[in-house]
Amino acid sequence: MATVIYAVLFYSATLALVGGLGLRVWQYAGTPAPLRIPTTPAPITRGGAALRVGREVVLFQSLFKSNKWIWLFGWVFHVTLAAVLLRHLRYFLQPVPAFVAVIQPFGTLLGMIMVGALAALFARRILVDRVRYISGPSDYLMLALILAIGLSGLTLNFVARTDIVETKAFFLGLMLFDWRPLPTDPALLVHLALVAALMIVFPFSKLLHAPGVFFSPSRYQADNTRERRHAPPARLEAAVRRG
Ligand code: HEM
Repeated sequence: MATVIYAVLFYSATLALVGGLGLRVWQYAGTPAPLRIPTTPAPITRGGAALRVGREVVLFQSLFKSNKWIWLFGWVFHVTLAAVLLRHLRYFLQPVPAFVAVIQPFGTLLGMIMVGALAALFARRILVDRVRYISGPSDYLMLALILAIGLSGLTLNFVARTDIVETKAFFLGLMLFDWRPLPTDPALLVHLALVAALMIVFPFSKLLHAPGVFFSPSRYQADNTRERRHAPPARLEAAVRRG
């Protein structure tokens, strides 16, 4: 029974994540950006602007400039999350690639650092008056959801281990449409239900900042207004004339 429920759940969640994200990216890519509004000082070439977006994605450069503590916890959270997710590829790939195998011994440490950084970000929302004032339910919900995923993952490591060979067989089976039984250990079922919930809410949530950073005019635009003429696209001009 759990196998069928989780199989349907993960097919639906994958559809929601891939379809929802695809739709968002489609909308972002089709939204006109008629004005030059790079945050200055900005690179004056397109290559320089691409590098700037790269530094934003890898180093969180503008966050570093604005607040060192949020940068520290935010950056550490994202880097450990990326490593934890890469480590999880072993459940979906057979044979397991060398770069995934190399990360395995650090899994629990990475998971603990990730949960610690998330807890610090959560504490900031509750303890700093200014931040609490501007925090909405979704800010807490996303933090709580990812925190709960991390904690249930660590429970699987330290408290209630599950059969990871069967877990892998289930997910490989899902991808090949050849269903295999899923272990029914409560900690695994909780971990997976939370992951499916995250996949479903992702395209409707603030977590869209992940693809969004690539579509941010203040970051990706080059400051070349003195070198090039920037006329609005014809369809935008036509829309303005129509009123
Ligand atoms: C369908 C996707 C997923 C599956 C099948 C899965 C499965 C598992 C399993 C079986 C463990 C225990 C590992 C062990 O005993 O060695 C684990 C641990 C963990 N999971 Fe997941 N998980 C999934 C998605 C996620 C996601 C999206 C996150 C983060 C947002 C996450 C975070 C963690 C953490 C932090 C741990 C503990 C550290 C580690 O073992 O890497 N998991 N997961």
